[in-house]
Amino acid sequence: MESGTKENTSFDADKIREHFPIFFQPENEGLIYFDSAATSQRPREVLTACNNFYEKINANAHRGAYKIAEKATAAFEAAREKTAKFIGAGRTEEIIFVRSTTEAINFVAYGWARKFIGVEDEILVTEMEHHSNLIPWQVAAQKTGARLRFLKMNENGVLPLDQLDSLLSRKTKLVAVTHVSNVLGTVNPVKEIIRAAHNVGAKVVVDGAQSVPHLPVDVVDLDADFFAFSGHKMLAPMGIGVLYGKTALLEEMEPVYYGGEMINDVDYYQSTWNDLPWKFEAGTQNIAGAIGLGAAIDFINSIGIDTIREHDHSLTEYALNELKKIKDLVILGPTENRGPAISFTLGNIHAHDLATYLDQKNIAIRSGHHCAKLVMKKFNVAATARASFYLYNTKSEIDALVHALNEAKGYFSKWR
Ligand SMILES: Cc1ncc(COP(=O)(O)O)c(C=O)c1O
Repeated sequence: MESGTKENTSFDADKIREHFPIFFQPENEGLIYFDSAATSQRPREVLTACNNFYEKINANAHRGAYKIAEKATAAFEAAREKTAKFIGAGRTEEIIFVRSTTEAINFVAYGWARKFIGVEDEILVTEMEHHSNLIPWQVAAQKTGARLRFLKMNENGVLPLDQLDSLLSRKTKLVAVTHVSNVLGTVNPVKEIIRAAHNVGAKVVVDGAQSVPHLPVDVVDLDADFFAFSGHKMLAPMGIGVLYGKTALLEEMEPVYYGGEMINDVDYYQSTWNDLPWKFEAGTQNIAGAIGLGAAIDFINSIGIDTIREHDHSLTEYALNELKKIKDLVILGPTENRGPAISFTLGNIHAHDLATYLDQKNIAIRSGHHCAKLVMKKFNVAATARASFYLYNTKSEIDALVHALNEAKGYFSKWR
């Protein structure tokens, strides 16, 4: 770290790191993990919670009248309650456990959009969406005959809201927007977008995959109709995600999967559906994953999401400043009001070559199109390198990245 720059004194990332076994495996010695936007690491508390489920109370939820089954059910539903509180949902039954953000958005596309969107209607998405919040709407538009329209971003990777007047109308039935861009880091003004969409009677689905891990989210304050996020980007296990929906919308939405547990009564030729949230949770659920998500929320709460946001913000500002000093390094996205993911190009070094070079130095970054090809097209690049930060990262790790990038420039210049 440069002399004069200080680590955030209210927060000790080195102490936090001690909770994450991955950094203490001999084979991972010196690992600098800058790919939390793809998936975060998991603290011991989360791993222990999952393990405890399998070791101590393993049974299917909602099915057994015996003690461990009751404990499994109680732990599963307690995780739902914690999740509801964490994102400010008004009711616990508005939390549907799914596999991931991708699955949550597909639930809305299949269960709600295909039922309520028709040939005269429009779906509005933004240019900066992850494919998870774009492809389901392309297909929904193709299947329903609705028109897909785009909210464009400017050269700074920001969505100017003055376009909304001309894009939103009574024809708009659904707006799909990411809270925080996984490529550009842009934090979008989703509250304003939701308000404008509601003025024309449209519903809004927010992709919160990159926001819930990093900043306080209150779905009621945002007035989001649907809100999707993944556990694995916020210290929880892979394979557990959340769809939040307003009760009235979930009531009118069709189930997406049919089978065990999602029914109320079954007859020969037709059946009726269970109450919320179970109407959407057919079959055996990822109970250990949900319990792990609950433990991740406990872990985040024990630090404080505001504290995590401050730490992320201070790392991001520091990194932006240091990266700017590297000649030929171009940062995509805004300079302010951004999440802790920084995408960049470095001269004409291909992002994959850069990532491979950095891996030799034990620095893990992401390279590629980041499942956001429209963003790549907009900025006229095939791929970018991306460094993303979380609560276990430090400024000295950023210094190591900057040092390695300078070295990489020298190394690759030999091959030109
Ligand atoms: C903004 C955004 N949306 C959606 C997703 C998809 O998340 P998942 O793969 O957990 O479904 C990601 C993952 O990188 C993301 O960053």
